[in-house]
Amino acid sequence: MSELSCSLNNLLTMSEGILPKENSSVTIETLDYKVNFEIKLAIMLESLWWFQTRFQLGEENLWPVFLYSTGRIQLLCITDADMVKEVGLCSSLSLGKPSYLSKDRGPLLGLGIVSTSGPIWAHQRKIIAPEFYPDKVKRMMSLMVDSTTSILRCWEDKIIKSEEKGIADIKIDEDLRSLSADIISRACFGSNYSQGKHIFSKLRALQQLMSSQTIGVPASRFMPTKSNRGIWRLEKEIQSMILQVVNRRMDDACNEKDLLQMILEGAKNYGDDIDHLGMNRDKFIVDNCKTIYFAGHETTAITASWCLMLLAANPEWQTRARVEVLEICRDGSVPNAAMLQKMKTLTMVIQETLRLYSPAMFIVREALKDIKLKDIVIPKGVNIQIPIKMLHEMPSLWGSDAHKFNPERFKNGIVGASKIPHAYIPFGVGNRICAGQHLAMVELKVILSLMLSKFYFSLSPDYRHCPASSLVVEPKHGVRLHVKRV
Ligand code: HEM
Repeated sequence: MSELSCSLNNLLTMSEGILPKENSSVTIETLDYKVNFEIKLAIMLESLWWFQTRFQLGEENLWPVFLYSTGRIQLLCITDADMVKEVGLCSSLSLGKPSYLSKDRGPLLGLGIVSTSGPIWAHQRKIIAPEFYPDKVKRMMSLMVDSTTSILRCWEDKIIKSEEKGIADIKIDEDLRSLSADIISRACFGSNYSQGKHIFSKLRALQQLMSSQTIGVPASRFMPTKSNRGIWRLEKEIQSMILQVVNRRMDDACNEKDLLQMILEGAKNYGDDIDHLGMNRDKFIVDNCKTIYFAGHETTAITASWCLMLLAANPEWQTRARVEVLEICRDGSVPNAAMLQKMKTLTMVIQETLRLYSPAMFIVREALKDIKLKDIVIPKGVNIQIPIKMLHEMPSLWGSDAHKFNPERFKNGIVGASKIPHAYIPFGVGNRICAGQHLAMVELKVILSLMLSKFYFSLSPDYRHCPASSLVVEPKHGVRLHVKRV
């Protein structure tokens, strides 16, 4: 087998349709880092510009594999569906999470489950994932209904008080964000949910500050700029608030077996001092709680916002989903697990929303050892990036209406929706797939079914469509809807 070592240029040429022939393989060399800071900055800006332009050009101009860099971080970007499938099949010993996640995004993710690799990650996954298995999620349904009911009441009040008869103009995002924050804190952190609310608002502020920072600019996270000082302050405040929640739980000596309790048990593996991997007992607790607070509520709240926006813009689908909900939840009965399973139209609407507006922009990985994807040998240390939206909107995979809202494409499930089922990745791929995906789907169905059974939605004339990335893809100006009682 001929080993062809190729530089950036070779790689770009290669990926422009001239993929290596069978039985040949290509090794990617990482770029030389001996460039001074200004040049790196210039490269970074140029790369970002180039990357953006590429994305705007459309599928025919998109290379299935290309390398670009943001500052000192180089990323191998993959939109070839077969390679994505292979990423999903790789073991946790071959592919992990890039180290820049726990460094450049450290204040938000630290060494929590989303950003770690190897044995630390395996230990965290073993503790956290079972807390979101279907039988556990089933038991969370009544608290989801309770939390949603209080938002429904609040919207009813707004309708009664509205100046325009029977119609309220509501910016739904904040309400949905506090709803999903309420659900995750009650479901995972037991009786401490009121304390959780303050943690969420600090995390949101931290997320917003961090989203304005570009990863890969050397030493930038250590500079005492205004935004870094804000980040450091929020990081400390969040840490002390989480430790207060934890100490109160320990003082209570309660018997709750929720996620917080599992994290506390897991932390017993660590001592008070930082070990060689940078972990100690408090860091294990704080970083994992922070990660769950963040991963568990932002994504679900944003998806609910996009879903209601799309239903408001597509009244025929709104009617279909409502008719189904009212048919299944007869006489105002609240949905249970069996009822949710029957809500096929609502499931299709959520799946289509996640296809068009996946909250995560990229799936990212780092090669932990030399690996081979299709015919490309990727050396240890190279970062891999899969742009979710690109894959979700390729006409060659989804048909000529790839950019349109058409939940019908999911009528035979995910497998029948595109030419290749592994092209649908809103929850990620392989062994790092979202641990809370079942919780998220159940939560979305509960929230949306209750809302559809009570209200009609249409777009407010003040709604401005502007999806924007703030670590997650969210409506920049929020979602304003006209809400009317059914
Ligand atoms: C619509 C809602 C959600 C979406 C779209 C979503 C999406 C994702 C994505 C794309 C990843 C990265 C997967 C990968 O790298 O392959 C992820 C990871 C994760 N998500 Fe979610 N997520 C959602 C809701 C939730 C919820 C409600 C929880 C519960 C707390 C959760 C917990 C996690 C965890 C713990 C991970 C890390 C898994 C690991 O690395 O082992 N997510 N999610």
